[in-house]
Amino acid sequence: MPLPKAELHLHIEGTLEPELAFALAARNGVTLPYADTEELRRAYAFTDLQSFLDLYYALMAVLRTEEDFAELAEAYLARAAAQGVRHAEIFFDPQAHTARGVPLAVVVDGLGRALDRGEERHGVSTRLIMCFLRDESAESALETFEAARPWFGGRITGIGLDSAEVGHPPAKFREVYRRAAEAGLHRVAHAGEEGPAAYITEALDVLGVERIDHGLRCLEDPALVERLVRERIPLTLCPLSNVRLRCVDTLADHPLPAILDAGLLATVNSDDPAYFGGYAGDNFDALAEALGLDDETLRLLAANSFQASFLPEERRAALL
Ligand code: ADE
Ligand code: ZN
Repeated sequence: MPLPKAELHLHIEGTLEPELAFALAARNGVTLPYADTEELRRAYAFTDLQSFLDLYYALMAVLRTEEDFAELAEAYLARAAAQGVRHAEIFFDPQAHTARGVPLAVVVDGLGRALDRGEERHGVSTRLIMCFLRDESAESALETFEAARPWFGGRITGIGLDSAEVGHPPAKFREVYRRAAEAGLHRVAHAGEEGPAAYITEALDVLGVERIDHGLRCLEDPALVERLVRERIPLTLCPLSNVRLRCVDTLADHPLPAILDAGLLATVNSDDPAYFGGYAGDNFDALAEALGLDDETLRLLAANSFQASFLPEERRAALL
């Protein structure tokens, strides 16, 4: 039995497996520039975050209907459950769909259709976190935020910030995060993946985030590490992603041991599992193997994942 765990850093669009991509392409009359799944998989040779994002956004062309989004989420839940995931706080990128003419309601209601049955079918509870693309304008984020109000406190429980990091500092999104706080939404942001430690500090100071997604580069700033420990700010690490996007050279070089030694609240997640070679349990297994992690450390990481979640205290305690 895999360790029960929560997944806190997972882009639902990043769970689009090549087989499902081709099936949806056929159903929706979309032509992909790859002959078959093998050729598509061969394109997953990324050199950095942007090289991944280019393919990730291009492949979203196959996602068009509520049913497509429901199938995507259902496939994720089945895979995640098999790897011990009992709770998932799932990112989605509304602007990547609305920009293609897919209405927000199609995305949220489609995902919701599968997620609403997640506990009953797979024993996985879920939350949805709407991410803004940081390489799009602050105005676009605000428009997206306002359009999503009907789902606040219902299907949508938080906001995040993702896409190309360098050159798009958190402060650009000050106003949308202010409105989110006012609306009672949770706030997280990708920071310190490719961008500098200063973006982590800025996400805390200006956006008021409760968790940092990735946060790898916090180690470059000892005062920041001290603060993250003191304030118990969780980091949602994604080891296989870090290797595939060349943020670290190999898993054996992953800074998880230094992060744990510093007393940080680290969690292990899959980011975009269809592209990076594994789901949550695969990330645990690969880390354990590469770094020689003992069972106690793996249990700590699993406990941290519930601790760092947005579940109410009593549900967290029940899952621990
Ligand atoms: N969107 C999907 N995966 C991402 C990642 N690892 N970093 C930034 N944006 C993303
Ligand atoms: Zn991510």
